[in-house]
Amino acid sequence: MKRLNTQLQEDDCPLELILLIRTLLAACKEISFRVSQGALAGVLGSTLSDNVQGERQKKLDVISNQILKDILSESGYVKAVSSEEEDKVIGCTNDGKYLISFDPLDGSSNTDINSLIGTIFSVMHAPQWMEPDDPSAFLQPGTQQVAAGYVLYGPSTMLAMTTGRGTHLYTLDKTHGGFLLTRERVEVPRETQEFAINTSNQRHWEPCMQQYMADLLAGDQGPRNKNYNMRWVAAMVGDIHRVLCRGGIFAYPWDNREPEKPGKLRLMYEANPMAFLMEQAGGAASTGRMRILEVMPDDIHQRVPVILGSADEVEACLSYYADQ
Ligand code: AHG
Ligand code: MN
Ligand code: MN
Ligand code: MN
Repeated sequence: MKRLNTQLQEDDCPLELILLIRTLLAACKEISFRVSQGALAGVLGSTLSDNVQGERQKKLDVISNQILKDILSESGYVKAVSSEEEDKVIGCTNDGKYLISFDPLDGSSNTDINSLIGTIFSVMHAPQWMEPDDPSAFLQPGTQQVAAGYVLYGPSTMLAMTTGRGTHLYTLDKTHGGFLLTRERVEVPRETQEFAINTSNQRHWEPCMQQYMADLLAGDQGPRNKNYNMRWVAAMVGDIHRVLCRGGIFAYPWDNREPEKPGKLRLMYEANPMAFLMEQAGGAASTGRMRILEVMPDDIHQRVPVILGSADEVEACLSYYADQ
């Protein structure tokens, strides 16, 4: 099986980016180990602090964030990092070439039930003019990402990554500690009969999303003429991994619970990296009104509605937005 390094070289990835990715993955391997220790290492449960999103931090949110921050800031390749668990950008190495945004632990509510969790990351070039702790340098649209992906801490530890030459899946071989290529150039089926959305929020959605979902639920008796199945892992990494593997549509749409915050998911370290992976695998990713990768960010913790997955199904969903 092909090693990660070999694949990155074949994809013409610059050496410095390869070294940065390897550093990032060293951190993820450590997180994978800590996660696997669970209650034995006392890493489950919550802390007494909240993050900038107002979410109560789990111990594993804090531990994963610290591991990534320490390893990346000492690497020499990174100018600054930005994290779900950090209010502000953290300056690292002045002549570092890259900026990294990460969700250190996605699916926090799954930590205490031994269910799917992961780390999501997005890498961009660091502008030369920036001061290392200047947040404005991060405010580039997702089209500017040079690498993005996630590490899924499941029954196997897996990496899904793109550097703009397709989306590849790798599996961590814990016997020697390397990621091996287990699926090259993922192609998400254009059509699907599976959706992932938290339907308990249905009453808060816009009318167009309500109508789309009503038509899916009507099955072969409704306008879509086919029966759909539903899955919800409650960790975006788990849901997106399934969509990459076998197709589907994933949505966390705008809802009116916090009208000033459009949706729950964060642009820089959740929506953008997943949108890049999905598009590189032939899928689509939209806010409902525009391509996610073209959203011009105005804040490192900005939220955005997310609709992504199988291209034809995303298009079908977007037709409801166009009609409203
Ligand atoms: P995080 O654990 O990083 O805060 O992200 C959780 C997100 C995302 O992974 C998932 O799709 C969504 O929250 C689940 O939301 P609900 O609890 O509303 O279903
Ligand atoms: Mn969180
Ligand atoms: Mn998350
Ligand atoms: Mn998180």
